Amino acid sequence: MLLKTPQYDLRGHPEVYEPSEDSFLLLDALEQELGFLEALEPLFALEIGSGSGVAITALASCLKCECFATDINPDACEATAETAALNRTRVNCINMDLLFNFRENLFDVILFNPPYVVTDSAEIRGCGLSRAWAGGCTGREITDQVLCNLQNFLTPKGVCYMVILKENNIDEITSLVRKNNFRSEVIKDRKIRGEHLFILKFSKNV
Ligand SMILES: C[S@@+](CC[C@H](N)C(=O)[O-])C[C@H]1O[C@@H](n2cnc3c(N)ncnc32)[C@H](O)[C@@H]1O
Repeated sequence: MLLKTPQYDLRGHPEVYEPSEDSFLLLDALEQELGFLEALEPLFALEIGSGSGVAITALASCLKCECFATDINPDACEATAETAALNRTRVNCINMDLLFNFRENLFDVILFNPPYVVTDSAEIRGCGLSRAWAGGCTGREITDQVLCNLQNFLTPKGVCYMVILKENNIDEITSLVRKNNFRSEVIKDRKIRGEHLFILKFSKNV
C-alpha cells in the first residue's frame, strides 16, 4: 500500500522545521505499517510536534479517524493546518506542550519525531527552530516525558511510533517503557550523513 507524501509550502513559515530525512523515514515507516493501521481501525490519532504537518496529514489522508496535531511552536500549528488543507484533509491543530492537555487514554495512534539531538539542557528552553532539534542531555529530555506517560494517553490497543537517534540509547528506552508494560520494536532504520536514525514502535504487552 502506498502512502502519498503530502504537498507542503513553508515559504510563509521560516521558523518551522522543514521535512528532512527523519520526517521521511517516519513516512516510510507509516507506509510499511499502513495495513496494520487500517486493521486497527483507530478513532483518534495524534502527532506530537507536527512541524510542517506532513506525517499527520499523510495519515489523515488514508485513515478514517479524527486527527490531531500539537506543537509548542504556534507557527508550526498554522503550517500543519495549511498542509492538511493543501492536501484536502483535516487535522485539528493545537498549540500545546506535548500532549498533556488531552484527556487520558484517548489515542489509538501517536506519532512523534521529537527534538532528539544531544545538547546542553538550557537549549531545550529556546524558542522557534531550536525547539525542533534540541533534545538536552542524552537527547531525551523531551522524549522521556512522552515515553514515561504512554500508558496514560494510548488506548489499550494503541501504538506509538517515534523517531530515535542511536545516541538516545535504544536499550535504555526499551527498559523505560517495559516498566509500564510496553514493548518496543525497531521497525525501520537508516544511516544518513553520520546519523543513525531508528523508528521505534511501542505497544502494550498483552
Ligand atoms: C524534529 S521536529 C519534527 C517536525 C515534524 N514532525 C517532522 O517530522 O518533520 C520536532 C518538532 O517538535 C516540536 N516540539 C518541540 N518541543 C515540543 C513540545 N514540548 N511540545 C510540542 N511540540 C514540541 C518542535 O517545534 C518541532 O516542530
